Amino acid sequence: MCGIVGYIGKKDTQAVLIEGLKKLEYRGYDSAGIAVFTNQGLQIAKAQGRLANLESKLEGTPLVGSAGIGHTRWATHGKPSDVNSHPHTDNSHKFSVVHNGIVENYLELKDELISQGHHFVSETDTEVISHLIAREYDGDIVKAVQKAIGYMRGAFALGVLTEYEPDKLVAVRQASPLIIGIGEGENFIGSDIPAILQYTRKVYILNDGEMAVLTQDSVELMTIEGNFISREMIHVDWDAVTAEKGGFEHFMLKEIHEQPKAYRDTMRGRIDESGKKVVLPELKLTADQIKNIRNIQIIACGTAYHAGLVGRSAIESLVRIPVETDVASEYRYRSPIVTPETLVIVVSQSGETADTLAAMREAKANGAHVLAITNVVGSSIARDADDVIVTLAGPEIAVASTKAYTSQLIAFYLLALYLAEVRGTQTPEAVAQIVAAMQALPEQVESMLAKPDAIKAYAEHISKHEHLFFIGRGLDYAVAQEGSLKLKEISYIHSEAYAAGELKHGTLALIEEGIPVIALATQEAVLEKTVSNIKEVNARGADIMAITHEENVAGLLKSVDQAFAIPKTLPLLTPALSVVPLQLLSYYASLARGNDVDKPRNLAKSVTVE
Ligand code: G6P
Repeated sequence: MCGIVGYIGKKDTQAVLIEGLKKLEYRGYDSAGIAVFTNQGLQIAKAQGRLANLESKLEGTPLVGSAGIGHTRWATHGKPSDVNSHPHTDNSHKFSVVHNGIVENYLELKDELISQGHHFVSETDTEVISHLIAREYDGDIVKAVQKAIGYMRGAFALGVLTEYEPDKLVAVRQASPLIIGIGEGENFIGSDIPAILQYTRKVYILNDGEMAVLTQDSVELMTIEGNFISREMIHVDWDAVTAEKGGFEHFMLKEIHEQPKAYRDTMRGRIDESGKKVVLPELKLTADQIKNIRNIQIIACGTAYHAGLVGRSAIESLVRIPVETDVASEYRYRSPIVTPETLVIVVSQSGETADTLAAMREAKANGAHVLAITNVVGSSIARDADDVIVTLAGPEIAVASTKAYTSQLIAFYLLALYLAEVRGTQTPEAVAQIVAAMQALPEQVESMLAKPDAIKAYAEHISKHEHLFFIGRGLDYAVAQEGSLKLKEISYIHSEAYAAGELKHGTLALIEEGIPVIALATQEAVLEKTVSNIKEVNARGADIMAITHEENVAGLLKSVDQAFAIPKTLPLLTPALSVVPLQLLSYYASLARGNDVDKPRNLAKSVTVE
């Protein structure tokens, strides 16, 4: 989720790039940089941290020229640092590249380029691209870019400049967004509309597999194979704030809609080419260490803790290692039993949560191997952990976590499958079946997001209530807890998530005529029992909505007031789908109550006090 901006024209290029990058600041980033053609050739300036750091670097030595590219980075390969920031260049310093996305086979390509005498300075996948383009260059930058892309696998949006052809700016889109802005005697590229909105409202949206060649006075669009295409120009009439939200009313809704991409990005490069096996090349944990693991402890807070509950089921069912889950603020105070054969998994979107960090340090001090699942590469938790699996959800801005949670689920599924492969607890066929089902999840989420109306109407209905219950068994209970937290966080409706079978041991006393109960009934193995629990609340007059599969709707409608069907996947993977209507439910309930959806009261995105 980095930001790209590019400019070719007569304005002050550095100023256009910096202004463009400022407009992408809302996305969050850890470093920034620009490359400009100056009369001393292609010059690059970059700095870790806020854009202000880059600006102060440029003070007194501005980069003056007529074309340039800029980038804000959200680290994925290599920690945030000046050298890992974009733009990247090759050994001749004649080519410069900014990149969003992931080059899956960069290690292979890097080894090949090193053996051919190329020298690398950064830990990024992006640097490989500038070297590839330099290697392929034979007097035509467009052809060199096309050839370089031919070697790359993955997702990328690129902006490319070469000193040899200073009148051209080349842009490529392959599964990472990129737009072209059209001006008078000037043209722009941007990863997002806000980057260029102050200069032009005329844009071409590139599709996957397309590229553009910009000069001051022209824009040529073509496929990456070089076939010219024509495209209708779009006039953007969004205001700046709407543009930041990608046309969505709130960041939360935008982030809910980004989940299919977050799923794909988190899986990218972690499923081998056969599509049947999980590979986690980033792990330092050796096969011997994995075989020796005696117990696993999952520690996290809030939403991340709820992802841990699903992670526990995934690991226990696939790997058969005992797993405990703890909220981080409690972990240290229960004298947890940790040995060198204990794997501690800490989960944190921000990587900065004080409770999680403190629990993790305690576990490390007691000799555990600590693996972090986080969304922020350079975070404190990522730095202190022995191993890191980065979720590639991109920056999450809304306080209520959505795409970070579901990416954590994907990370847990990948980890569980990998542990199962190493310990031989699942057959290759079983692993392949789960991997195939995981790859279908993004489209299944898309299909739910395309039809929000039923959930929206139900959200308006519950928004008039002050109390409600979520019930479910097994993984449905884990998702119920996340659904309940989400609703509380942003709608301020009091809700409780109950293990459906536990309701009768006390809480049933609270079920009275008309109280809304949301029943998750997606786990076939416990469906009959869940239905019995649904009948218990039905008999007390509850107003019940069930989340289930199509084939159960008719049967359930005998005991519930309405049912919402989600697409079918393997039971273990169902949380990655069943949580989506609950996210939409809390979003629309919050909206109906007139709350500030993205900034709920009394909550912070990252809590850095214990
Ligand atoms: C805060 C946020 C929650 C989040 C929790 C853990 O309480 O409001 O949305 O789930 O922290 O955050 P982390 O960054 O560690 O995942």
